[in-house]
Amino acid sequence: MRVCVIGTGYVGLVTGVCLSHIGHEVICIDNNEEKVKLMQSGQSPIYEPGLSELMQSSAASGKLTFSTDLAKGVQHGEILFIAVGTPPLPTGESDTRYVEAVAKGIGNNLSSDYKVIVNKSTVPIGSGDWVRMIVLDGASEGSDSTPDISFDVVSNPEFLREGSAVFDTFNPDRIVLGGNSDKALAMMSELYQPIVKRECAEDKSLPPVPLVLTDLSSAEMIKYAANSFLATKISFINEVANICDRVGADVVQVAKGIGLDSRIGSKFLSAGIGWGGSCFPKDVSALVHTADDYGYNAELLKAAVSVNRHQRSIALEKLQTELKILKGKTVGLLGLTFKPDTDDMRDAPAITLIEELNRLGARVKAYDPILSQSGSSHGLSGVMIEADAEMLADDCDAMVLVTDWQEFLKLDFQKMHQLMTNPLIIDGRNFLDRSNLESLGFRYIGIGH
Ligand SMILES: NC(=O)c1ccc[n+]([C@@H]2O[C@H](COP(=O)([O-])OP(=O)(O)OC[C@H]3O[C@@H](n4cnc5c(N)ncnc54)[C@H](O)[C@@H]3O)[C@@H](O)[C@H]2O)c1
Repeated sequence: MRVCVIGTGYVGLVTGVCLSHIGHEVICIDNNEEKVKLMQSGQSPIYEPGLSELMQSSAASGKLTFSTDLAKGVQHGEILFIAVGTPPLPTGESDTRYVEAVAKGIGNNLSSDYKVIVNKSTVPIGSGDWVRMIVLDGASEGSDSTPDISFDVVSNPEFLREGSAVFDTFNPDRIVLGGNSDKALAMMSELYQPIVKRECAEDKSLPPVPLVLTDLSSAEMIKYAANSFLATKISFINEVANICDRVGADVVQVAKGIGLDSRIGSKFLSAGIGWGGSCFPKDVSALVHTADDYGYNAELLKAAVSVNRHQRSIALEKLQTELKILKGKTVGLLGLTFKPDTDDMRDAPAITLIEELNRLGARVKAYDPILSQSGSSHGLSGVMIEADAEMLADDCDAMVLVTDWQEFLKLDFQKMHQLMTNPLIIDGRNFLDRSNLESLGFRYIGIGH
């Protein structure tokens, strides 16, 4: 099928690349010229395992092209994905101005050929009808007569995880399609057939991927409810960890013990220094805001946010307990990104930690496997980015593990111990081998562990 994906960030680019890999003819549109030039030269603007290779092979086969020309994209696609960002406003609402600009642009360029317009961006509940209205407005611009256009809007929320986005696209737990047009839903189901049939799945013997066909608002709500549930689950285990710290229990054992209960499940039960990233914080806030708009006080979700706010200071509290005065001390951060295997720093807990350490007069250094490679500051201030973990350890009064990158398990901690002024490690993800570190002479402190 002919597909146009508008917005080539973590979601749009992965979607475009994966759809071209399963045989569709995809054009990816972005209004960032530099990004488009980079992609046209065969390079991915984001770090995502496996993405560059697939992108290059699809481009070489002619199934995948990149452009800044929205009109060309709209003309090409039978299915038009809107995959631009919906960042949070200071009020907690989603900023939908990028979706609006794209919907208007689509409207400006529609012809009588039938199109399915897909909201892949995470958009507030009710956005399906709103996008329809904006597209119609766009189509009417500059004309007095009723435009001769034909389209339907579908909501197709995305559940991929940064760091395993390509894998998740080919191995989804479900595909959600919301809309009120049978024709549009049938086209979307056909688009995803190779994925539904697990043709690119790691385990091809699995039953077909469930398709959840529903109405627009329910599809939009599924996305917010899923992220809010996962964020709440992490806040729950973080709260348990904080109680464990006080009573002398070990949250890692507790999580294992409760996670084996099939009603609970073991995923998203890792205690740590809080959730972050480009999705959880903004999606939970947006749902709280929507509930407020409709006269409902979402108390549980507000508590999940509040627990998380406190959790982001937990490493700082532990540093203060151990080191007392932080002014003039040097703290090294192992990892910066909000999770491993990504270069995304949006709303990463490291940012809060850096700000708070700076405020208290500490000197902050950091090493991150991906960000350190590029030699840029990534918009961060108040932190010196080191080229490797040993340079990070040099002169540190403490190190905090912020991100659980696999490569941190293989660091030469013996050498790092010699280089540190004071061998203290706060393990913000309960990730490192405590007994090994203690045998090397480190003081090890986990989170409820
Ligand atoms: N990142 C994730 O893990 C993830 C997962 C699920 C859902 N989502 C949702 O998907 C959406 C996209 O997220 P993302 O992380 O990919 O965002 P992103 O910021 O990485 O990418 C957005 C892209 O859209 C482009 N863009 C903005 N305005 C444009 C316009 N008018 N025309 C063409 N391109 C334009 C930007 O240049 C950028 O390349 C958001 O709504 C997000 O909530 C994200």
